[in-house]
Amino acid sequence: MEIKGMIAQVVENAVKAAFPGVETGIAYEALLEVPPDSKMGDFAFPCFRLSKALRMGPPMIAQKLCAAIDAPELCRAENVNGYLNFFLNRENFARDTLQKVMADPEKWGSSQEGAGKTVCMDYSSINIAKRFHIGHLSTTMIGNSLRRIYDFLGWKTVSINHLGDWGTQFGKMICAYKRWGNKEEVEKGGVDEMTRLYVRFHEEAKEHPELEDEGRAWFKKIEDGDEEALAIFNWFKEVTLKDAMKVYDLLGVRFDSYAGESFYHDKTGAVVQELRDKGLLTESDGAQVVNLDEYKMPPFLVVKSDGATLYATRDLAAVLYRKNTYHFDKCLYVVAYQQDLHFRQLFQVVEMMGYPWAKDQLEHVAFGMVSYEGQSLSTRAGHVIYLDELLKRAQEKALDVINQKNPNLENKEEVARQVGVGAVVYSDLQNSRIKDIDFWWDRALNFDGETGPYVQYTFARCCSVMRKAGDMDAAPDYSALQDDEAQAVLRLLARFPEDVRAACRTNEPFMVTRAVTELAKAYNKYYYEHRILEGEQSAQAARMQLTDAVRRVIKTGLYLIGMEAPERM
Ligand code: ARG
Repeated sequence: MEIKGMIAQVVENAVKAAFPGVETGIAYEALLEVPPDSKMGDFAFPCFRLSKALRMGPPMIAQKLCAAIDAPELCRAENVNGYLNFFLNRENFARDTLQKVMADPEKWGSSQEGAGKTVCMDYSSINIAKRFHIGHLSTTMIGNSLRRIYDFLGWKTVSINHLGDWGTQFGKMICAYKRWGNKEEVEKGGVDEMTRLYVRFHEEAKEHPELEDEGRAWFKKIEDGDEEALAIFNWFKEVTLKDAMKVYDLLGVRFDSYAGESFYHDKTGAVVQELRDKGLLTESDGAQVVNLDEYKMPPFLVVKSDGATLYATRDLAAVLYRKNTYHFDKCLYVVAYQQDLHFRQLFQVVEMMGYPWAKDQLEHVAFGMVSYEGQSLSTRAGHVIYLDELLKRAQEKALDVINQKNPNLENKEEVARQVGVGAVVYSDLQNSRIKDIDFWWDRALNFDGETGPYVQYTFARCCSVMRKAGDMDAAPDYSALQDDEAQAVLRLLARFPEDVRAACRTNEPFMVTRAVTELAKAYNKYYYEHRILEGEQSAQAARMQLTDAVRRVIKTGLYLIGMEAPERM
């Protein structure tokens, strides 16, 4: 439990002891305040709100409660004008916290709260034959972080890359390839070559509209499982994924399944039939839709008038497939906010089909838009930033910074990779998902302020302190950690597990980003104001243990958001 919760418990116990049988209905923890000056205590509890229930003036209440408080290991209390001021037993708090963290430092913050539960997470979900651009960065990084967080809390995670690999465009692409493409060019040029072919198709089709029919015919062949069509189509997929893999490897992202839209092609028939059997389909201009008037949403289109299914139909098939295959307790869709309506409709339809779990097990984990140095990223306007290029530049820029700051560093390239990529990841997970992000190089790669490199640098600083200290035999004297700065660090260490749980509960990785950033700041403040390796050996040992704990927790936190932690930089 966090220290604040523990103090709240002390207050509650005192109320029970001093006023037996009275129900106060008070949320004690919410009322606890932090006094502006630590001389007035670490926490203060105002007794005013208890007046009514206890039929007594606040000063009298404070006096009675103060007398009833009995938790010398944790704190002592004073009563001042209707307030209870709590002074933590700082030495005990330090001992207690550090012993807990260091008992199994890699696991601090982890738990088994998710044991026995399964979460499916749909993220990244890129489109075949399109280059990975920064519009897909957030879904990739948020999903990756959530997977790590859920794993850490004992859930079984199933990460799914729901590939966009279905649609008439693939027929057109095959048509273009057959006419103007060749194998070597595609192998060499990858997605760029496919795009070139696709663009050419559209240009030529202006002059020769019969090409459209040819494209459609190729798509029909894919649908019907024609050998040649499928072979080319699957090869396009392989080529796209090979490029994407490079980015995934660089980011440390992985998936359990790449079952995308095409995987559900032969499963849409059954879903449409089920909708029909359940009386949910109505016809509208020849198309089949589920009417959602009652829920104030436009109709959900499942079969077009030409009989073709849609993205939505495949999503319906996918959610049922996932439920039957993985028996999830939760299924997350990490997809841009623009698709809000689609998911609201989808979840509603699943519920209408008679699956009550749709209500609390399906969640659209939405996020805002990314812009780049003030420019929005519309493909049409040409401001497309490709992820591989962005990450490459990030590494180059990180290398420049390292060359200035620490030219003699060994394995500079490796560190530049960790710092450059980390800077991008951090910028993406710095704020609440729904906020739009504007990415600026100067901000992302700054070593000061709230940035990835700053947190990594603090980790490296802790490592350096540990190296300098070498082995230390003395038993730690925790009374050396009673100052405000050390206590601030300790509190953040103590509450780290709660931060991780909150991030999981709300599907907000930024809560972990914030936790490590606050910890880094608090440790740096401590570092500047105290000499760690001076004075009594036992005091040094305590300060080192604090440093060690910070180092471990920062490493865990960075891992949870998808960043690496270089030991020197
Ligand atoms: N491929 C889609 C896109 O890039 C995202 C798919 C998200 N997942 C899903 N099950 N709909 O917009």
